[in-house]
Amino acid sequence: MSGSYWDEFVDYEVNNDLNIRGFVEGLAEKVDKAFSELDDDYHPAYLGVENAVRLYALIREKKPSTVIETGVCNGMSSAAILKALKDNKKGKLYSVDLPVVAGSIEGRIGAVLPPGKSSGWVVSDELKERWELLLGNTYYVLPKIFAKVDQTDVFIHDSGHSYETMMFEFGIAWYHLRDGGVLLADNTDKNEAFKDFARGKERKLFRLNKMALIEK
Ligand SMILES: C[S@@+](CC[C@H](N)C(=O)[O-])C[C@H]1O[C@@H](n2cnc3c(N)ncnc32)[C@H](O)[C@@H]1O
Repeated sequence: MSGSYWDEFVDYEVNNDLNIRGFVEGLAEKVDKAFSELDDDYHPAYLGVENAVRLYALIREKKPSTVIETGVCNGMSSAAILKALKDNKKGKLYSVDLPVVAGSIEGRIGAVLPPGKSSGWVVSDELKERWELLLGNTYYVLPKIFAKVDQTDVFIHDSGHSYETMMFEFGIAWYHLRDGGVLLADNTDKNEAFKDFARGKERKLFRLNKMALIEK
């Protein structure tokens, strides 16, 4: 009998009692409302409420100076991270996105922006103080970020989920991740990239709800 993708993962414990669910649900409502005005096929492919609640808790707990994420789209994950940094009164988020507007690429229905919206539109202005949003392919933009920010405390992958893109991002992020830092990724069950990478680095596999996580 074949097991589940998550069988080898151990739950990563964070404080789930931080009263942030209302904020995250508000983000989901805003995005869902914008998508309700589009064709039914289009979907935001956002992180999801439970993942975003845990991500907020992780950032509150780790109190990072630097967080880097790939894949912004409508901005649910960015908003959750930025809210945590604001509540920590510490840290900066660098986000990378190559946005696609609904209807602009034939056949692309997921991880799109409603027409007229730009990457991270759901992030409110008061959360933008600690944010640098860079538009472009992660293959080009991540090396530029790491040329000026040598180390990161947290890295989150949620951009293109091909094996090659994931391995590229994990490789460059790991090199610049400080000892004790964490690398997370969403949608890892689409291929073996996360597990292969973790095995190569001899890391224990953790899960933060439905995000995979390893510690350096
Ligand atoms: C799954 S969505 C991100 C969802 C977001 N984390 C959230 O919680 O709302 C993925 C985003 O990454 C972008 N993307 C895909 N491949 C990319 C790449 N190679 N470089 C930069 N962005 C990419 C997509 O166009 C899309 O905007």
